[in-house]
Amino acid sequence: MTKIDRRALLAAPFALSGLTACDRFAWAQPKPPVVPPLKSIAPFPVGTCVQSSQTTDPAWVALAAREVSQLTPEWEMKMEYILADGLPGNGGSGLRFDAPDRIAAFAQAQGMRLHGHTLIWYAQGAEAFAGLEGPRFVEAFDAYIAAVAGRYRGKVVSWDVVNEPVTDEGSSLRDCHWSQALGQDGYILRAFQQARAADPDAVLFLNDYNLENNPTKGATFLKLVERLMKAGAPIGGIGSQSHLDIEIPAGQAAAFIRDAASLGLPIHISELDASLRNGSRLDLRSHATRIEQQSARVGELAEAFTALPAAQRFAFTVWGLRDTDSWLRQGERDDGKDQPLPFNAAGQPNPMAAVLARAFA
Ligand code: XIL
Repeated sequence: MTKIDRRALLAAPFALSGLTACDRFAWAQPKPPVVPPLKSIAPFPVGTCVQSSQTTDPAWVALAAREVSQLTPEWEMKMEYILADGLPGNGGSGLRFDAPDRIAAFAQAQGMRLHGHTLIWYAQGAEAFAGLEGPRFVEAFDAYIAAVAGRYRGKVVSWDVVNEPVTDEGSSLRDCHWSQALGQDGYILRAFQQARAADPDAVLFLNDYNLENNPTKGATFLKLVERLMKAGAPIGGIGSQSHLDIEIPAGQAAAFIRDAASLGLPIHISELDASLRNGSRLDLRSHATRIEQQSARVGELAEAFTALPAAQRFAFTVWGLRDTDSWLRQGERDDGKDQPLPFNAAGQPNPMAAVLARAFA
């Protein structure tokens, strides 16, 4: 089964259960807060991820046009999509650009900036590159980056060149098909050089998650950024995904933003969401407590970002606008109730939207 088929399967049960769940809990929801459009108050670009199918959903388009000034393709600019038919020269029939092209055209038509995501990621490409060794691997690696970053040159303002280089535990770099062929810092350095050659103007980001949730990981990531800078990599920014754990201690998210900013590069909060669930089987927190925790941590992160010097505020991106758009609300992961994003299923502001608006202002 391809990844695309899996996605369709995951989405199907949600489509059925989501509506009933929303109806069932609708009575319990307090009146949505009145919140000005986020992009109108933030002194920096505000973004969301997007899927090409959303660009023809009038409700999504209206909400996005009102709230954001930047887009990140959620999955259709990844190898997962572009290499779904395999790698040309390694049994594949050709690169797939139809969906990412539609997203690029939509961004242009809407006057929104486009952030490319992502060229090289440990989680993808192993199958498509399997069997390639030595110079053939390197050639294919370079060719992929040249083709993708070259195609969107002038259409994207920036790229996540390498995604998620640090292990979950956080004290070392990931061992993956890229590092095995090109070395642990080597594949990252090469990816940045190739991306720069393909697109001289894009701001090139290193992007990772749990940087504020796990301070060990945050420190390892920033050390890597410093090493890359010293090695002359054309790294132009730090991407912090910020899939935020709302139970981290107060001050931890702001501390990471300050440490990251000390390197002098622009910062992108690249994929913010903040689940109300913590994964444990017995979670006794009330809904009100969860919202309080979410508001406190999201507010702290957004305030720390807003407090940065203007030149270091690249953009603030949420990983979806409506709760029901969230990757945390698909298939088996969905509990029908989580509110990880600023807007509810109807596009009305959640408490999170009000918290962001307050911090941005
Ligand atoms: C997720 C998307 O939301 C899903 O639709 C996709 O199937 C898998 O990836 N870190 C990232 C994002 O950098 O690309 C991930 O997005 C979420 C975690």
